[in-house]
Amino acid sequence: MSDLTTLLEVGGPVAAFGGGAAYARANHPRLYWSAVGGPISTVRLLSSYASVMEACGLTVAPSRLRVLAVKATTRREVRPVPPRRGIIRPTSSGLRLRLRLAPGQEPADVAASAERLRHAWGVHAVYVSTVKPGVVELRLVGFDVLRKVRMPRKTEGGFLQVPVALREDAMPFVRDYRAVPHQLTLGATLSGKSMYLRHLVSGLAPQNVALVGVDCKRGVELAPFASRLSALATDPDEAAELLPVLVKEMEDRYDLIKAWQGIAPGTPDEEITSDIWGLPESERPVPIALFVDEVAELFLTATRKDEERRDEMVTQLIRLAQLGRAAGIYLEVCGQRFGAELGKGATMLRAQLTGRVCHRVNDEASAKMALGDIAPEAVLAACAIPAERPGLAVAGDTSGGWSRIRTPYLSLGDAADVCRETAHLVPDLSALKPFRPYVPAPLPSVERPGPAVQPRPLTD
Ligand SMILES: Nc1ncnc2c1ncn2[C@@H]1O[C@H](COP(=O)(O)OP(=O)(O)O)[C@@H](O)[C@H]1O
Ligand SMILES: [Mg+2]
Repeated sequence: MSDLTTLLEVGGPVAAFGGGAAYARANHPRLYWSAVGGPISTVRLLSSYASVMEACGLTVAPSRLRVLAVKATTRREVRPVPPRRGIIRPTSSGLRLRLRLAPGQEPADVAASAERLRHAWGVHAVYVSTVKPGVVELRLVGFDVLRKVRMPRKTEGGFLQVPVALREDAMPFVRDYRAVPHQLTLGATLSGKSMYLRHLVSGLAPQNVALVGVDCKRGVELAPFASRLSALATDPDEAAELLPVLVKEMEDRYDLIKAWQGIAPGTPDEEITSDIWGLPESERPVPIALFVDEVAELFLTATRKDEERRDEMVTQLIRLAQLGRAAGIYLEVCGQRFGAELGKGATMLRAQLTGRVCHRVNDEASAKMALGDIAPEAVLAACAIPAERPGLAVAGDTSGGWSRIRTPYLSLGDAADVCRETAHLVPDLSALKPFRPYVPAPLPSVERPGPAVQPRPLTD
């Protein structure tokens, strides 16, 4: 009898703890990681570090001095030496530690063992990055951070930088307009492109930037942000009027830069500027971000006359992409496909868009359009994105590498609220005044227009 009570007394709490841990692991991975997973992995790492490194072939033969010292002081056998390890730093989603590579090792050796390390220490994934020559950082991620995305609390985005998504290694993916002026975002319908755009718009809204939208789906995606937009075109006709104005604005900015370069013949070299960032602040025009949602709609043509208009628009976009950076004009182009079938000049425009993000696509050809020139593995990764994870994408980065990213969920209403709150920040750009979208006065929330005819239940 007493055995039974002991069993109940001990077994009950253990079972409850086990069940709670399993539940937390499935539903609150962050909590599970901080309370259970993290400490367990830390202990595993500390206790097995040397043997795991040896099993992964990351050790080197000990120096002669070390052999002598070990032999002189102890009777133990002389083991190979693992890379020197820094302190283990826990984060909300994993662990970080630095390793000093032994002579003859390179970061690629550690990266090649990442999968083995992950299994040895029981974590979701291990990523390796170079900190400086001879030192690599191991980032252990405890769980799948892209399942339910939460941006790290300390994500600082500076001017023209928007932390727009989370990378699979739990680092923020920052869209930096000054580093990558133009970007192409591809993906099948419902893959999360407009969500990505939504984050960019709401991230740039509080900054001193003019936002311009071209949304040929009659404005369904961008019209809710009308209060913060300096200009909005909702069909190809309007876009055909807006683009030349932007090109003209760009040319005016080039003239301004030229005028400043020429002011005084004795101006020191470092003060001669070739873009708007070198101008004194009082003279500097505000940067313009141009968002194009569903680019194919802009290029679709029905008649011969349309075709001429399309060719003109493509040319204007190419000019903006080629020369826009120095004038502070940045392009953000979204589409389902972006190939030669869009017409003359389309592939040339694509080549100008440096940044690439590819959401789920329906065929390999579309993924190749976005990532083909970055890496073949990136194309495969994009083709493997499942439909039930909208917002998941493969992003190429400036170093020629790529990573999986996912945007956090942001409702259209919340993004529109940000735009409404920042409406007073719309910069004064006289050229764009005629294109300023009409902003309806907000309806009192209860008086949403309902159906004109009230449905009545059918009776026979
Ligand atoms: N990161 C995300 N997390 C959760 N749901 C998302 C995410 N991104 C997109 N979605 C959902 O997926 C659906 C399609 O997204 P959307 O951005 O409109 O796709 P697209 O513009 O590519 O057609 C929307 O219902 C949206 O709420
Ligand atoms: Mg969309």
